[in-house]
Amino acid sequence: IASYQARIKSAKSMKQKLTDRGLPVTADSAMSHVRDAAGVRLICPFVQDIDTTADLIRRIPGIQISQEKDYIRSPKPSGYRSYHMIIEIPVFFSNEKRLMRVEVQIRTIAMDCWANIEHQLKYKREIANQALIVQELKRCADEITSTDLSLQTIRELIEAPGKEQFPCVS
Ligand code: GTP
Ligand code: MG
Repeated sequence: IASYQARIKSAKSMKQKLTDRGLPVTADSAMSHVRDAAGVRLICPFVQDIDTTADLIRRIPGIQISQEKDYIRSPKPSGYRSYHMIIEIPVFFSNEKRLMRVEVQIRTIAMDCWANIEHQLKYKREIANQALIVQELKRCADEITSTDLSLQTIRELIEAPGKEQFPCVS
């Protein structure tokens, strides 16, 4: 993991999300309906590190996984790619143990670069030339996918020289 970010959803955006979904604006409703009150983003150098990281998370003792979404093998129409997991992790309070939900997003440095810039450009904004912008952002996402694959291949060449040229020799 090259870097990580963690955030707790602000009260303001939690209220907004509940209101948008027509749900009651209460703490109970937030805790039961919204899965990303707590969020962690894990940023890896290479595509292959994502599977490794997801596997490590699955093996954390006491953890439960309530959802996994593979936006790497099935990217969003926007071009967004990342591996998402909703995990439930035991948190110990003074008088009880509670399972707390956390949205984990695992992505490469390149995927993170695209997602941050795309978010910055599109966030709460009326965009002129909508179709063209969406198409261009998708094109950038495709180029980044291709770069990620090249970087992965370069790593494999460096770590196991010869393997690429002779795939039948294991
Ligand atoms: P939300 O209600 O937005 O949380 O959507 P969801 O519950 O359907 O979850 P989903 O797995 O679609 O994505 C949740 C999170 O992934 C978002 O809060 C973003 O952080 C990220 N995400 C999903 N799609 C996009 C996208 O097209 N662009 C960017 N930049 N981020 C995205
Ligand atoms: Mg969200």
